[in-house]
Amino acid sequence: MSLTATVAVLSAVATAHPASAQQRRGVEAERAELRGAVVSDPSASGGQAVKVRLGRRAAVLRAPLHPAPSVRVRLRGCGGTIRVSAGSGPFRAVRVGRSWQTVTVTTAAGGAASPVRFARPSSRSGRSCPRVSIDRIDVQAAPVVLGAATRDDLLTTAPGYEQAVASTFGGVTPENELKMAFTQPSPGVFDFARADRLVDFARGRRMPVRGHTLVYDQQLPQWVTQPLVPWTRERLLEVLRTHITTLVARYRGRVDTWDVVNEVLTPDGKLKPSIWQRVIGDDYIDLAFRFARAADPNAHLVINDVGVERPGLHQDGLARLVRDLRARGVPVDGVGFQAHIDQAGVPTASELDETLSRFARLGVTTEITEADVPLSPPVTAAALMRQQTIYGTLATACWEHASCTAFTVWGADDGHSWRGAQTRATLLDAQYRAKSSTALVMQHLSGRIP
Ligand code: G3I
Repeated sequence: MSLTATVAVLSAVATAHPASAQQRRGVEAERAELRGAVVSDPSASGGQAVKVRLGRRAAVLRAPLHPAPSVRVRLRGCGGTIRVSAGSGPFRAVRVGRSWQTVTVTTAAGGAASPVRFARPSSRSGRSCPRVSIDRIDVQAAPVVLGAATRDDLLTTAPGYEQAVASTFGGVTPENELKMAFTQPSPGVFDFARADRLVDFARGRRMPVRGHTLVYDQQLPQWVTQPLVPWTRERLLEVLRTHITTLVARYRGRVDTWDVVNEVLTPDGKLKPSIWQRVIGDDYIDLAFRFARAADPNAHLVINDVGVERPGLHQDGLARLVRDLRARGVPVDGVGFQAHIDQAGVPTASELDETLSRFARLGVTTEITEADVPLSPPVTAAALMRQQTIYGTLATACWEHASCTAFTVWGADDGHSWRGAQTRATLLDAQYRAKSSTALVMQHLSGRIP
């Protein structure tokens, strides 16, 4: 066999990713061996994709190959050389070993696409590595938005609160103001005063708004939980339809993302017997998403849950539910991981990696939606350091996964956290001063990982 015949040139061609709120950073790690051809597959779900053909097997790598000045590729091999190039730039020979190695290659800056090409070198360039694994491709991209759960009452009553939110955070989730007890206090009577003020506050500063939440078994008005006449499926379904349609249509174009359903599973991964599930039946979730999609076809629709960052029955149940919903054509676009971190259950980096990859493989985006890390009082300097590490791990996981679109902390500051000021659970202290973890989270969310 000639030397040139042994050089398998692998190319991944991508088209430009339209500028959107969903810029992507990495390839979800389908650890693939580079054998055979790499072809583009723009039809794959979730945006641009690269398909690596591995002989009879095929692995789809979702690649964020929109224009970027450089591309980072994580490779591992058998102790040989491989050549890597991005865009139309020159090949760079890389010696790959048995541990993961990140290589940065420059792209044709300003070009419409950033193809990543891999080649086995001829023998003159060194011994060719016959087996190379590709783990992840990252491009430089916009930072992940750091948002905060924000309270309307504090905007006007707590001196310094509005300024602290506006100067620290890039996105807003109304902490309570969109929940049903607030928005529909009496049947068919809607009150949007509080929610409107928050949405106006955010939009006036070009901050995206997460709508929290359309369907929840908490903070329901009494007329829903204690009806004068017992509910029938038909009547409660009509309530569900009217509620979702009214809220989503009202905020069309102003609320970017909706937590359509919130905390619908029990810790063992079964559907929670909420009033919605008991009266309407299991299909209330399908219907909620369909009503939301009909009211705003452009809103990003999320299923949000608590305690699902680590593997286990709860997470398994959520993965099953998301898979089944999507298989039935239910418009679930994303999964929210609340990440209320209790010290007993801190997820490791590799657990988060597995978790975010697992859900990205289902074709949905992921998000950290309610992060907080409460500490046991009295809080020591060592505990604050541990807290900083936990926040850093969460933020890095989000940055490293192309699917992870946003990171929201539950409460702007310790003084107004639902966890209680003494647990110091958020990113700003009770005087709105940034903690060292704040700067770290921001660095991690922009890929500037120290
Ligand atoms: O609105 C009443 C007000 O009229 C009254 O004067 C005041 C007196 O305490 O209470 C007010 O209600 C409070 C409500 O927040 C609005 O401020 C409730 O007491 C209080 O229990 C409620 O807590 C909220 C909690 O959800 C309710 O379940 C928290 O602020 C909010 O942070 C929390 O958020 C949830 C997410 O929605 C879902 N994931 C878990 C997360 C934490 O529990």
